[in-house]
Amino acid sequence: SAAEKGGYDYFMLKEIAEQPKAVADTLLGRIDPSGSLTLDEVRISPSELREIDKVVIVACGTAFHAGLIAKYAIEHWTRIPCEVELASEFRYRDPILDGRSLVIAISQSGETMDTLMALRHAREQGSKVLAICNTNGSTIPRESDAVLYTHAGPEVAVASTKAFLTQLVACYLVALYLGQVRGTKWGDEIQAVIKDLSRISEEVERVLETMEPVRALARTLAAKNTVLFLGRHVGYPVALEGALKLKELAYMHAEGFAAGELKHGPIALIEEDVPVVVVVPSPRGRSVIHDKIVSNIQEIRARGARTIVIAEEGDETVVPYADHLIRIPATPTLLQPLVATVPLQVFACELATARGNEVDQPRNLAKSVTVE
Ligand code: G6P
Repeated sequence: SAAEKGGYDYFMLKEIAEQPKAVADTLLGRIDPSGSLTLDEVRISPSELREIDKVVIVACGTAFHAGLIAKYAIEHWTRIPCEVELASEFRYRDPILDGRSLVIAISQSGETMDTLMALRHAREQGSKVLAICNTNGSTIPRESDAVLYTHAGPEVAVASTKAFLTQLVACYLVALYLGQVRGTKWGDEIQAVIKDLSRISEEVERVLETMEPVRALARTLAAKNTVLFLGRHVGYPVALEGALKLKELAYMHAEGFAAGELKHGPIALIEEDVPVVVVVPSPRGRSVIHDKIVSNIQEIRARGARTIVIAEEGDETVVPYADHLIRIPATPTLLQPLVATVPLQVFACELATARGNEVDQPRNLAKSVTVE
């Protein structure tokens, strides 16, 4: 009913709008007044966490994209090698695991069968399993050694939005906590990022307030067949997630690529007026990859692409090459997915509506896939 949807036409729109609160709720009570993390609910002791020599993340769909982003954060802040794998691939390839491996299973529903089978397999090998989950008491957290709940609230729309942002927050918390417990050389950066995280829900709110041009742009693309997405570093999984949303909702051919791979194939797809969404990393931080992406934008535009550029406020270098420019607030590099994903959700939702699709219940898809 309209009341359940809080006045929005679709649950997805409501859930997109709820993201600032979902993010804030997922941080609530987990950062103490001194700026340290208190994750006592993670019932794996600090001494056990100091013994971990490998992290393996397993998940499906959108949750897998959260895992891909987590890898950048975990390896950077903790220096522990981290692999990310689709749960459906992991289980059947005889992965190398032991008692010093920490397996993180990410799942909104807590009921995805492939993810459940992957974690069962990991526990049989003696690994510790930490679930990141949005559904209290569901199967995946019940069968894990520990759980960090995301507090997105119930997500009804099949295409995941607020659960994804809170999965990212939970992954950052785990990465920062591992860094804190293990005392890496990034101590100062960790402190600074915890501060930035505690302000990030306001930045998500600011993004939501500027989405009207994104909706207008989406409507002009309703008759297109293909949209490509490019990103690099944590922007690469954001590109994958943008493409997934478009497939799920708009039933369009959409593909995400690592921008550095452009010359190894994807550039052959560029033709007159094909829309290409490019997620531009911060010009601060890893400025080398920023500059490389800006030249990728030049290259594809020279070949006729219609460039839709998502870039930080104040980044003027992209202006000459952007047919459409979507601004996002400046954030630390690793946190950028929290703000960069939002326009892609809005974009996909509006395109689906413009194409007359059922937004909350896309054809052939289920909210939770409980068969292998
Ligand atoms: C289905 C849903 C996706 C979700 C995936 C994983 O495919 O349609 O939105 O990302 O399952 O679900 P989970 O509940 O494990 O996060």
